[in-house]
Amino acid sequence: MRKKWLTTEEYASVRGYSEAYVRRLAGAGELPGAEKRGGNWMIPVVEPPLEEHPMRTIAVFNQAGGVGKTTLTYNLGYQLAQLGLKVLLVDLDPQATLTSFLGLMPSELSSTIYDALLKRDPLPISTNLYGMDLVPANILLAGAELELASALNRESRLKKVLGEVSAAYDLALVDCPPSLGLLAILGLAAADQVLVPVQTHFKAYLGTDQLLKTVDGVRAELNPRLEIIGFVPMQFARGTQHDRDVLEALTVQLTQRGPVLPAIPQAADFKKATVETKPLALFNPRHPAVGILQEIADGLFQRLSSAEVRA
Ligand SMILES: Nc1ncnc2c1ncn2[C@@H]1O[C@H](COP(=O)(O)OP(=O)(O)OP(=O)(O)O)[C@@H](O)[C@H]1O
Ligand SMILES: [Mg+2]
Repeated sequence: MRKKWLTTEEYASVRGYSEAYVRRLAGAGELPGAEKRGGNWMIPVVEPPLEEHPMRTIAVFNQAGGVGKTTLTYNLGYQLAQLGLKVLLVDLDPQATLTSFLGLMPSELSSTIYDALLKRDPLPISTNLYGMDLVPANILLAGAELELASALNRESRLKKVLGEVSAAYDLALVDCPPSLGLLAILGLAAADQVLVPVQTHFKAYLGTDQLLKTVDGVRAELNPRLEIIGFVPMQFARGTQHDRDVLEALTVQLTQRGPVLPAIPQAADFKKATVETKPLALFNPRHPAVGILQEIADGLFQRLSSAEVRA
């Protein structure tokens, strides 16, 4: 994949829109990454075009609660969309935090991922949320584990429904729930890669064994191509000796299993940004964590581009 800039005229012709409509979208901030140069809009797209390039699915997974899975999914999704990727966020957590972070009211949704997984309804997609699309969830999903318990091919349900929309996206980012239950397995079975946020705390250091065993189990039984694309140390307090020690130990322990990506600092602005339902980059563009998120997104973009294209 390579980022390429198109004029409004070129973009209109690729997408089958009128040029006036493209200008209106760009002006309304609805084309991620679009920039005005010399009075004209330039819009980033990714080459090769979608039809030659199947969608990749990355599961953001850690069975520990509150480590930053949803925060990472949301903010990385935003940065990857800014790089020109067409990104689909998938909320696979009955807590529906990602859905709320994006400003939707989970309890008011008439159609969620639950309906696609359980009733085989078409995947409900909310479009154009900060340049990304979202498959929302709500609390009904909590019943899915029991209701799917005896279903045929239950582990492949998510893979199947994502396959139905894969022509329209470059990347699906799946926000897994904090458990090792069936929903998390569904996420891992649907994924090409898994991205693991880890807190730089001693408890996290102990919990990673179980996490790695689950990834190994899914790879052995369901999804032999599943690859760990990286570990992201989260909520890192550089100023404390404890966090620096744990980061060092985690890096030694985890590097054998996958790349340890740049650490995201602990920052109150992450929480404040979610209250305003914004990605950090829009809430406080100058926050140092934004540069780190961009660095991780650039790295993932390169990794996704260089990986062999899968049929
Ligand atoms: N780098 C950070 N610095 C400070 N707070 C953070 C950071 N990352 C996430 N948080 C906050 O920590 C809390 C938990 O984050 P988040 O919901 O992303 O975790 P999670 O792993 O998805 O949780 P769950 O396991 O419940 O799904 C949120 O309030 C979030 O705003
Ligand atoms: Mg979460």
